[in-house]
Amino acid sequence: MDGDKQKIKHTDLPSGIVMSGIRPTGMVHLGNYFGAIRNYVRMQDEYECYFMIADLHSLTTHPDTSTLKSNVKRVIAENMACGLNPEKATFYCQSHLYETGELYLYLNMLAYKGELEKTVTFKDKARQHPENINAGLLTYPVLQTADIIMHRASLVPVGKDQEQHLEMARNFVVRFNHRYGEIFPEPHAFNYNEDLIKVPGLDGSGKMSKSENSMSTLYFGDDDDTIRKKVMKAKTDAGPTEANSPKPDYIDNIFTLMKLVSSDEVLTKYNNDYNNCNIRYGDMKKQLAEDMIQFIAPIRQKTQDILEDNQYLIEVMEKGAQKARISAEKTMKLVRESMGLNYF
Ligand code: TRP
Repeated sequence: MDGDKQKIKHTDLPSGIVMSGIRPTGMVHLGNYFGAIRNYVRMQDEYECYFMIADLHSLTTHPDTSTLKSNVKRVIAENMACGLNPEKATFYCQSHLYETGELYLYLNMLAYKGELEKTVTFKDKARQHPENINAGLLTYPVLQTADIIMHRASLVPVGKDQEQHLEMARNFVVRFNHRYGEIFPEPHAFNYNEDLIKVPGLDGSGKMSKSENSMSTLYFGDDDDTIRKKVMKAKTDAGPTEANSPKPDYIDNIFTLMKLVSSDEVLTKYNNDYNNCNIRYGDMKKQLAEDMIQFIAPIRQKTQDILEDNQYLIEVMEKGAQKARISAEKTMKLVRESMGLNYF
């Protein structure tokens, strides 16, 4: 009878370890905050967390490294200004963890050319940069897998665009475990129950993102006047003519943004005004702009303070690398043993 029961392996259970990577290309914006960083800040209190700046991944599309250091430092400072705490989470820079290169090499032997070529992000980037379709780009999901399983993490807070990479990571993990021994848990996308908040752009279409039109995205680096200018430019119309009519998308977006940063009273007032057909969009946008400034300005200032203290930033990176290395060394010892690469 007992033989019929499927034995549960320890790698079938979630490890309770969280890992995610942050690409250091572009400035942090409101969409990053509500879509990701805010969740990291909550997770760091509840889980063992590894958050990594993916500087090596950025080389797959940005081979010019002249601005890399300043980009990496800015992203570190911005995430910390948003509440990411290097005392709570292990916050490190990918290139500082040399073990990653080794694990990536082993995993490459388990990744098939065909599946890598079918990856949507690979096909997109290959189309965008036909002059630089390098092997690093092709094996991008392999490197990402190495990042995750280096800490034997199974909980990966990422958005929808990373689902396919995680599916590939699970495949690589299953192959590794099957071939060399069950040492890695399968990684899965992990977010708090509530739906991931999509922060709409200010141009009435799509979401806030760094690659889209910069006038429709609010960055934590934007000064007060820029924030005002962007918000005031958001598309509106003459207002509803019938009570309680549905909101067009571009108006709904303004309400969504208001919900993120304004008080309940303010939101209720404008909702009532809308439903009673006496909404004044000019006033609403002025209010939204000021509430945005209240939200963004302190983070901008904190980022600036951190960036001015280069010594502190270096210390954060060094300590993060040290902590990450403790976990990586343990994993790599296990990997080499299970692969039979432990000659002495
Ligand atoms: N590919 C991720 C992105 O584009 C960044 C990333 C690198 C990552 N390594 C990771 C995400 C490990 C989660 C886990 O945003």
